[in-house]
Amino acid sequence: MKNIVVISGKGGTGKTTVTASFCALAEKAAGKGLALEFSGSGINVSADRFYIEQTVINLVDNAIRYTEKGSVKVSAHKAGKGFSLSVADTGIGISAADLPRIFERFFVADKSRSRKTGGTGLGLSIVKHIAEAHGGAVSVSSVLGKGSVFTVTVP
Ligand SMILES: Nc1ncnc2c1ncn2[C@@H]1O[C@H](COP(=O)(O)OP(=O)(O)OP(=O)(O)O)[C@@H](O)[C@H]1O
Ligand SMILES: [Mg+2]
Repeated sequence: MKNIVVISGKGGTGKTTVTASFCALAEKAAGKGLALEFSGSGINVSADRFYIEQTVINLVDNAIRYTEKGSVKVSAHKAGKGFSLSVADTGIGISAADLPRIFERFFVADKSRSRKTGGTGLGLSIVKHIAEAHGGAVSVSSVLGKGSVFTVTVP
């Protein structure tokens, strides 16, 4: 796989683990006929590699799971000492009413749909927890029926 955004943390050997996760996600995207794209160059940041991996996996897994056609685009950039990571999809989107609640533990936007897609509502609460534990934040903008963009910023 080329053009992988590799964000590696202090662990040093983080690259292989993160790359392996990306490969599994790429297969999942390909299985749904979605384009999974990465931009940005390999960046090294001062953050735990396991947590970075969990963040990427959760956001990309969501983007693939809640998108039926189009693309999932991941981009990463260095920002000061930290980084900014965005995952944009062309999926089902999230209603304005649900948007403030999606980072809550066990919250799933549409119960019947989520039963079908199998979510437990934990992924985003983990992402938020990790971002905040690193002094950062996660934000989202979404349009129902059009897609969503999640951005994690760690200073
Ligand atoms: N990219 C997305 N597009 C549309 N809806 C999303 C997206 N990401 C999250 N959601 C909505 O937010 C809810 C919470 O997401 P979260 O990742 O916390 O849980 P989940 O995906 O349902 O389960 P899991 O614990 O397996 O991650 C989802 O159930 C879904 O309704
Ligand atoms: Mg999820």
